[in-house]
This record gives sequence, C-alpha cells and structure tokens, in this order.
Amino acid sequence: MKVIQVGIGGMGNAWLKAVSRSDVVEFAGFVEISDEIAAAQVDAYNLNPATIFKSLPQALAALGPVDGIINVTPPQFHKDVTLAALDAGIPVLTEKPLAGTLADAQTMLAKANETGILLTVAQNYRCSAVARTVKKILDSGELGAIGAVDVRFFKGPHFGGFREEMRHPLIIDMAIHHFDMMRYFLDSSPASIYGRSWNPPWSWFSGDASAAVNMCFQNDIIATYTGSWVAQGVETPWNANWRFECANGVLTIVDDRVYVQMLGEAMHPINLLSVERQGQDYLLHDFYDAVTSSQPTIAPAQDNIHTVEMVFAVVDACDTGQTIMLDK
Ligand SMILES: NC(=O)c1ccc[n+]([C@@H]2O[C@H](COP(=O)([O-])OP(=O)(O)OC[C@H]3O[C@@H](n4cnc5c(N)ncnc54)[C@H](O)[C@@H]3O)[C@@H](O)[C@H]2O)c1
Repeated sequence: MKVIQVGIGGMGNAWLKAVSRSDVVEFAGFVEISDEIAAAQVDAYNLNPATIFKSLPQALAALGPVDGIINVTPPQFHKDVTLAALDAGIPVLTEKPLAGTLADAQTMLAKANETGILLTVAQNYRCSAVARTVKKILDSGELGAIGAVDVRFFKGPHFGGFREEMRHPLIIDMAIHHFDMMRYFLDSSPASIYGRSWNPPWSWFSGDASAAVNMCFQNDIIATYTGSWVAQGVETPWNANWRFECANGVLTIVDDRVYVQMLGEAMHPINLLSVERQGQDYLLHDFYDAVTSSQPTIAPAQDNIHTVEMVFAVVDACDTGQTIMLDK
C-alpha cells in the first residue's frame, strides 16, 4: 500500500518512523510547506527530495494514484487536506483532532459519507496495551456496573508552536485523548457537561491550560476530569491516572499500571495484555486492514465526530459557565 504523508515535521516524525517499520505500507511521497523542515527530514530520513511537494493536489498530479493519505498537519489544515483527498477518492488517516472546529469536522464527515471513502482518526491512546487491558476488564463485567470515573492529568510541556496560541490548548489538543478514552471505556457519550477552565498566572500558553470538568454520560455514568498542561511539579503519564468506581470494586490506572480491587479484597496489579502493535504502528495497520480488506477502524470519523462534539461542548461549558446538553 502506497501513501502520501502530509506534514512531516513535529508529530510527522512518529509517522515517518511507523511507515518505515511497516512491511505492508510504503511512501509514494510527501507534502510539506516548510522548506526548512523538508530539507531537515530529507537528511534525517534519507527521503528523495523529488517526492516532496508543497500541496496535496500537486503531489497527486505528479505521483499518480495512491492508496492512502496520512495527514499530520496542525488542526486548522485538516479540512482542506482531507477534502482534497476524499474528492480524489483516496482514504485518509488524519491526526486528531479530526478538525480544528466542529463545523470543519462536520463538513469532513459529510464528505466522507457522500463519497463513501474512509476517513479515520489517529486516536492512538485507545490502542495502547494499558487502554486495551482496561477495556477488556471493564467489558468482562467482573467489576459490575460502573458508577463513576475520575481522571487526573498533570504535565508541563513547553511545545512552542500552534498550541501556545490556541484558546483552549489543554481541552482541544490534549484532553481530547482522555475524553475519547472515556467514550471507548464507557461505550457511551456525554449527555450533559459543565466545567471551568483557567490559565494560571505562570502559564506559558495564551489560552486556558487548566480545566476541571464534570460530565454525565448517556448511560448515567458520572465522569470527572481535572487536567493541567502547566504542572509545576509531580506529573502523571500522558495517559493520565484513572479510577473507576464500580459495583463490585475499583479499577485504577496509576502511572501506566493497572490495578483491580474487588470488594473486601486487597488491591492487585494486573498484567497488561501482550499486544502485537500499539500507537502509530497499530493505527497504520488498522488503516491498512481497512483499505485493503474493508475492516472497520478503531476510530472512524462517523464515530469520532462524537469525541469532537464532546470536546467543543466542554469548550462551550467552560466559556459560558452553563451546563451543556448534548443530543442523545
Ligand atoms: N496523536 C498524538 O499523540 C499527537 C501528538 C502530537 C501531535 N498530534 C497532532 O498532529 C498534528 C500535527 O501536530 P504537530 O505537533 O506535528 O505540529 P507541527 O506544527 O509541529 O508540525 C506540523 C507540520 O505540518 C507542516 N504543515 C503545516 N501546514 C501544512 C500544509 N497545509 N501542508 C503540508 N504541511 C503542512 C508544518 O510545516 C510542520 O512540518 C496536530 O493535529 C496534532 O494535534 C497528535
């Protein structure tokens, strides 16, 4: 399977490496608007400079048909890249968030539905060994009904770039992974959301880098989320720390380790599932299976739109101070 990667800086590195590790996916070419980044990546990955273009239409005109597009541009460019690919009949694996705005995401979904071409989202946090182990335990039913889930995330990364200019960097660029994991773990989407976001005085982000959110899911499970991207001390892993309060006990994820405590018993650590692939390797092969054998992907746009709706409902809740109701 031949793909074009659009955007080869930043997170593009992870995809350049994932494709180079794959024995079923290879590059036809690349799109990169920055000459400086293109030149650096030619050197770093031994790319052929003649296969790097300034826009997707130029790349497609020169390279001919390809089997897929991997879109690793910043969110505000996801719509144009995706529409150009879908109009050309080419499946798209796009980085999260599906789009920079809910309206863009809806336009992209409408195009995917109209053309019948695959549009899938890189929600890599869903496919880690940790997430899949937790999902398996919750789905087994041994813990009984889930009453509530509490999620805590604290990191202090200095990225520079677009995140430091966004209005809601934590919610739109980071918490989206945790919100999407909530939807995955709980098999449901929120019915109502309220929350508060703020930017601490020492923040190096322009937009709010901290948030506390409370959600009631459609299956009546309550989720609380506390997050900060300007932590000044002890950090959690990127996956965050989680606690599921269930009828028969408690499941926690602490520092990327999973623990279960059944009623009246001691807490015990759980061995993680042994998985063949995680992260970008998993998503790339998930995309390959979907393109070559029409298998469903882990986060198709038709489902992922509900993660995007959730993210922007949290933004609305924080901006207005109101409880936001989502359609059931
Ligand atoms: N899934 C994850 O864990 C994860 C982690 C980091 C970033 N991301 C996502 O990856 C995407 C890119 O983020 P990043 O950190 O790499 O950003 P970045 O700004 O570091 O890199 C983006 C690259 O795309 C290029 N670019 C910008 N517009 C372009 C266009 N129209 N056509 C071609 N190239 C273009 C830039 O020159 C740059 O090389 C974002 O959507 C981000 O949220 C996902």
